[in-house]
Amino acid sequence: MKVRKAVIIAAGRGTRFLPFTKSVPKEMLPLVDKPVIQYAVEEAAACGMELVVMVTTPEKAALEKYFARDTELERALQQAGKNDLLEKIRCLPDLANICFVHQKEQLGLGDAVLAARAVVGKEPFAVILPDDLFEEREGVLRKMLNAFQKYQGSVIALRKVNKEEVERYGLVKVEEMTGRICRVTDLVEKPKPADAPSDLAIMGRYILTPGIFEELAATPRGTGGEVQLTDALKRLLSRQDLYGYEIQGEYYDSGTIPGWIEATLALALNHPELGQKLRDHLLHLLP
Ligand code: G1P
Repeated sequence: MKVRKAVIIAAGRGTRFLPFTKSVPKEMLPLVDKPVIQYAVEEAAACGMELVVMVTTPEKAALEKYFARDTELERALQQAGKNDLLEKIRCLPDLANICFVHQKEQLGLGDAVLAARAVVGKEPFAVILPDDLFEEREGVLRKMLNAFQKYQGSVIALRKVNKEEVERYGLVKVEEMTGRICRVTDLVEKPKPADAPSDLAIMGRYILTPGIFEELAATPRGTGGEVQLTDALKRLLSRQDLYGYEIQGEYYDSGTIPGWIEATLALALNHPELGQKLRDHLLHLLP
């Protein structure tokens, strides 16, 4: 079955970015020349998703506004002859067909995914956590979609992490398969390093079968008092196969201040107009 819908989770409080996030959603943080959320929507569209289901909260109306048409601003830019800027804002409502769903309470990632159930229905879907950015860009999701078609089971993105990072992620146990694909045999959310089943951590891209919704609805609150997607995936394992795709290349967690700075630098250094100047300036700054 074709995967047509992508659920983008943009419901977190973004406390790591306070005071900024007191009034601005963290997904609106810029990464060089566009906000974090735009990268996620562009990725979904590039992977052929026909509908983006964005899970937000009522306080994050700025996200809806960002992707809505602003005819007044368009007219002003047109009259001022600022056609390059006009293009930058005019394309936003057309990037993807987006519908917004609210998570009613901050009950964690699993609960946020469950909020999309009515819109997703009984079909497989992708989940994108916008904070997680990859050098491979949409290549990660694309390869996961291929793996889903081949193995007909849920696929999650994985990456090797150091011992010190283990407590920030869901960790998995796997059986070797072919190339970068493996079979997942166990999962645990944010374990202590000593309890980690391996050094493979879950990254924020998932292709899920609709069976996950039944499991999410029956999953009790876990780590941090929240409904964990990792726990629901573990339950799903008892009746469906689950596969992992190990990502290649660099990874940036733009949901932390250091990760956001690293992602900004990496993107800016590769930017056709900004890259060389930034490189020169960094060399000038370094001792
Ligand atoms: C979530 C998931 C975790 C996963 C991580 C990837 O955690 O619960 O399993 O490893 O995303 O970024 P969060 O970052 O919401 O704490």
